[in-house]
Amino acid sequence: MLDLLQVGLGPTCIYSPQKSLRDTSLAAQAACEYRALSIGEVGTPLRINPIRTTGDHNLTTHLSVMVDEVVDSLRVAPGGRRYVECTLGPGGHSAAVLGAGGPGTQLLGLDADPSALEAAQSTLASYSESTLLIQANFSHLEIACKTHGYLPVDGILFDLGMSSLQLEAGRGFSFQEDAPLDMRYDPSQKLTAADIVNHYPEADLARILYKYGEERHARRITRRILENRPLATSRELAEVVESALGGGRGRLHPATRTFLALRLVVNQELENLASALGQALNLLRPGGRLVVLSYHSLEDRVVKDFIRRESRQCLCPSRTPVCLCNHIPTLWPVSRKVMAPTPQEIKSNPRSRSAKLRVAERL
Ligand SMILES: C[S@@+](CC[C@H](N)C(=O)[O-])C[C@H]1O[C@@H](n2cnc3c(N)ncnc32)[C@H](O)[C@@H]1O
Repeated sequence: MLDLLQVGLGPTCIYSPQKSLRDTSLAAQAACEYRALSIGEVGTPLRINPIRTTGDHNLTTHLSVMVDEVVDSLRVAPGGRRYVECTLGPGGHSAAVLGAGGPGTQLLGLDADPSALEAAQSTLASYSESTLLIQANFSHLEIACKTHGYLPVDGILFDLGMSSLQLEAGRGFSFQEDAPLDMRYDPSQKLTAADIVNHYPEADLARILYKYGEERHARRITRRILENRPLATSRELAEVVESALGGGRGRLHPATRTFLALRLVVNQELENLASALGQALNLLRPGGRLVVLSYHSLEDRVVKDFIRRESRQCLCPSRTPVCLCNHIPTLWPVSRKVMAPTPQEIKSNPRSRSAKLRVAERL
């Protein structure tokens, strides 16, 4: 059986076992043995609890993106290496990593969504001896790895955003479904898309659509939302946006940017990504690889800026005559050019079309 543990926001304590990853009594211990721990930068104390899963999932609807490129970029090789997937989803990339690494390869998988962990549990069933799956936001990456002795690691993968399973699960992510306006990856989190759409002041809502959706018509859409409040479902929201903007805006559905903005804010995606990238530096061994698949320009910018900044010798303003910052580069950008899926992959998996792969190596 896989060890399935939950790292969620909770009261002021954390279970911190310095135990073997394969210790099957870990889950049982986690239920009863807690000790106080300050998490510093991460901010919120964690609680780790065992969760139960059914493992009964149909995995036919999510196709992992750029799998060969991801495995190559992580430089997966035999010899007992240790990898972390921060966005486990249904486990496709993780299965490829474990398969390529062979016996002795270890993998820690995180996902904020318990249903993703259930799906991954069945995908990775044949690797149960070498796999640890944890329900956790990757903003808690460092503490999750340290708690479970995953340090240092040889590769860390982020495959950002949502999976096709989530898109089709009736959780309000898709404007093509009529589902409650939820959009949370972690169902125990309080804030939903409905809260934002129905309760945020006009100026805040417009700012969110503009900043996170890069929506030029944010004010017009917001005014129309306010006229139609309360909105209960994704279909209702999509129709309101359509009515504000009129039909065809090229290839994009008129509600695409609005839905993206709400999803990013509900899940604090950009903020969590920036935090987790910084934590990854503290976990990778020298020569270890950071591999990130992103699907829209805002998240790609966070990744690109992070790698660029961490690769520089000096962060002083350009006019400073002598370096005063003493910045020490921590990353080497493996390729300056971003990688993208092949035309064949885009044809067989249209959802891969916006993917961008960036790779950096820990110095
Ligand atoms: C694109 S899917 C990953 C698919 C996976 N790589 C595969 O090949 O099967 C992204 C997953 O990341 C999870 N996720 C997104 N943001 C997260 C965060 N901040 N912390 C943890 N999981 C997150 C989502 O719940 C989703 O399951």
